[in-house]
Amino acid sequence: MAILVTGGTGYIGSHTVIELLNNGEEIVIVDNLVNSKKTNLDRIKKITNKMPKFYKVDILNEKELEKVFKENKIDKVIHFAGLKAVGESVKKPLLYYQNNVTGTITLLKVMEKYNCKNIVFSSSATVYGTKTIECKEEMGRGETTNPYGTAKAIVEKILEDIYKSDNTWNIAILRYFNPIGAHESGLIGEEPNGIPNNLMPYIQKVAAKELPELSVFGNDYDTIDGTGVRDYIHVVDLAKGHVKAIEKLNNSNGGIYTYNLGTGNGYSVLQIIKAFEKVNGIQIPYKIVERRPGDLAKYYANVSKAREELGWVATKNIEDMCKDTWRYVQNELNGK
Ligand code: NAD
Ligand code: UD1
Repeated sequence: MAILVTGGTGYIGSHTVIELLNNGEEIVIVDNLVNSKKTNLDRIKKITNKMPKFYKVDILNEKELEKVFKENKIDKVIHFAGLKAVGESVKKPLLYYQNNVTGTITLLKVMEKYNCKNIVFSSSATVYGTKTIECKEEMGRGETTNPYGTAKAIVEKILEDIYKSDNTWNIAILRYFNPIGAHESGLIGEEPNGIPNNLMPYIQKVAAKELPELSVFGNDYDTIDGTGVRDYIHVVDLAKGHVKAIEKLNNSNGGIYTYNLGTGNGYSVLQIIKAFEKVNGIQIPYKIVERRPGDLAKYYANVSKAREELGWVATKNIEDMCKDTWRYVQNELNGK
């Protein structure tokens, strides 16, 4: 039996495929390559010695998705496929609801038709809204502030309703905090298109001298040094969390489980800059500018549920995240 990984050539998907292949799983990837490159498949092969089966398919295309289910014995799905730029989602809400909500509904319909009722869904800490500093699963969802976040909350709700209607479904909702870093081989990492919105992709570009300096959005928050605090998690730790989620589904006859995937620690923007500079021996020029509208001062994950129920904890620290990111960027710059 195979695991279907939608969005499997993307940033988190490709790292997860590596961990799953290393764990002996059979993998089928579906991705329309809107935000990733097919060459990631060769890199996955280089790292694991295994080539996952690949279909260039849009999850909105029900017929083509059905073909994937017809041609493969799929019993589980990890659903990463989606658009993820928060700012773009504010400008193009219909695109985001269509791709991320309708796309998921299409996938779920096909899964149901082929009696595949095991799914791991990529959700986000953004569903907590402005609720709290320490996010706990049982607090439930808060008020989302942009279409990207609302689409995640809607999909979570859809999954809950599906489970209510048929409790033979096995569903794991994983709420990621701030994934950064890259595979330690330096072959796979995050490759932002254009000018990045997120912190680490921006630091990458400044380090590579593609952008002159980082703008730090506000230094007057109620945090350790006034800059925003987030729970950054190494993408390989995150990927391993998916292997644990699959194990959880394997041992369950039906259920819906929601887990935070973070480290439980918060770091400020200035702490990240300093860590990056220290481990990599390069300067990151920055200036303090206005706060970014919609930003929260500080939030991080409570990780006890994932630790207790999945037996998963993040093992990599901020230094690993900064070192692995820069190794990947340097390899890319050197054309490896
Ligand atoms: P990514 O853009 O690197 O990967 C997403 C992949 O999905 C891409 O390869 C893209 O080509 C593909 N895709 C998009 N729409 C598709 C469609 N209609 N049909 C088929 N393929 C499609 O993003 P990522 O960082 O790897 O994120 C993966 C998932 O995790 C997303 O759902 C994202 O919202 C979620 N997430 C990401 C973060 C983060 O900070 N990276 C945080 C929380 C949640
Ligand atoms: C962003 C998204 C969130 C998504 C998450 C995924 C927004 C408003 N929120 O959250 O929905 O789930 O990414 O990882 O986009 N910063 C700077 N300068 C920069 C970029 C960021 O100072 O150029 C600061 C921010 O103010 C924040 C921290 O760095 O304090 C992290 O920012 P970012 O990487 O964008 O992540 P989030 O804001 O947590």
